[in-house]
Amino acid sequence: MAAASVNPIDARRSEGYGRKLLSVIGAGRFPLVLGNDLAGTVTAVGSRVATFRIGDRVYGAKPASAEGTHASHVRVKAAHVLAAPEGLDLHALATVPYSFTSMWLAVRGAGLSRENAAGKNVLVHGAAGALGLLATQMLSGWGASVTAIARESNTKVCLEAGAIEVVGRTDKLFVSLARSFDATLNFATWEDDLALLGCLRDGALGHATTVHPLLGNFDRLGWLRGALKTISQKRLHRRVLPKGTNNYAWVLFKPDKAAMHDLRQFVEHKHVSLPIGLRKPLAEVAEAFEHVKSGRRGRALVTP
Ligand SMILES: NC(=O)c1ccc[n+]([C@@H]2O[C@H](COP(=O)([O-])OP(=O)(O)OC[C@H]3O[C@@H](n4cnc5c(N)ncnc54)[C@H](OP(=O)(O)O)[C@@H]3O)[C@@H](O)[C@H]2O)c1
Repeated sequence: MAAASVNPIDARRSEGYGRKLLSVIGAGRFPLVLGNDLAGTVTAVGSRVATFRIGDRVYGAKPASAEGTHASHVRVKAAHVLAAPEGLDLHALATVPYSFTSMWLAVRGAGLSRENAAGKNVLVHGAAGALGLLATQMLSGWGASVTAIARESNTKVCLEAGAIEVVGRTDKLFVSLARSFDATLNFATWEDDLALLGCLRDGALGHATTVHPLLGNFDRLGWLRGALKTISQKRLHRRVLPKGTNNYAWVLFKPDKAAMHDLRQFVEHKHVSLPIGLRKPLAEVAEAFEHVKSGRRGRALVTP
């Protein structure tokens, strides 16, 4: 490993978040090695792997497991990594794959794609965060007009990522944008999910969120009540979708072949990147987690 990022999910899993549902895939109980993102150099390959050789520089993201990437060495399926383009820094590459894939799944869940994005008006909540910046970079690259919701102090970073305008997140100013958007993406807070649906126009493509209460419902309420609560919350939100809008998605990260394809292209053309806020060796990983928990700017990286 050259580096792995610490994402908000790692900080939350370290406090027990997701333990119920993730236990189904053996990723809910301590001892856990956290971390999804990885960037490094191949030191061994399986006998049936033809795509990579020892010495190749790679980056990618592992699905949730108890064998995460905050480690000196990581075992990963060849399908979950890409060759690192020459000249690109492995630390920079370690920040992107997990967030890009989650963002990409949300974009697809809202009904947007490379083919239909041009000319669409898209509202992105949490636009100055990792998923928000990557969505703004990708969608503006596809020709969509992105309106960003962010703290006023983050206006510049959203405009630099490609947003056409930035609405301050305080006082829920975005509510005044009712019925204007083809798609809405929520990377900020579940509390605002219903209000965001009110920003979709009739016949819009749809909405997706990465900040839904699915994992928390099972943690708090157990299997049965957690499932019932989840179904009723989803139904309630689906019911307020404007006429003719079909897509409404709660995203859960998992590696995706089509997302990897777009990730490779955007990385190779240097169209996506995230700021690095902190780098710490594994022995000081607690400081990297603290950086994430306190919401400081830039991704935190851990290095062996
Ligand atoms: N379901 C999944 O599989 C999945 C996958 C990836 C990420 N996620 C979740 O998706 C969210 C975004 O991820 P990320 O990596 O982009 O996180 P991030 O870098 O921490 O960014 C989150 C952004 O949301 C904004 N925000 C947070 N709380 C808010 C609130 N109460 N009101 C308004 N804005 C708020 C923050 O704005 P400020 O900068 O102004 O504070 C920040 O810019 C996180 O909650 C993460 O856990 C879920």
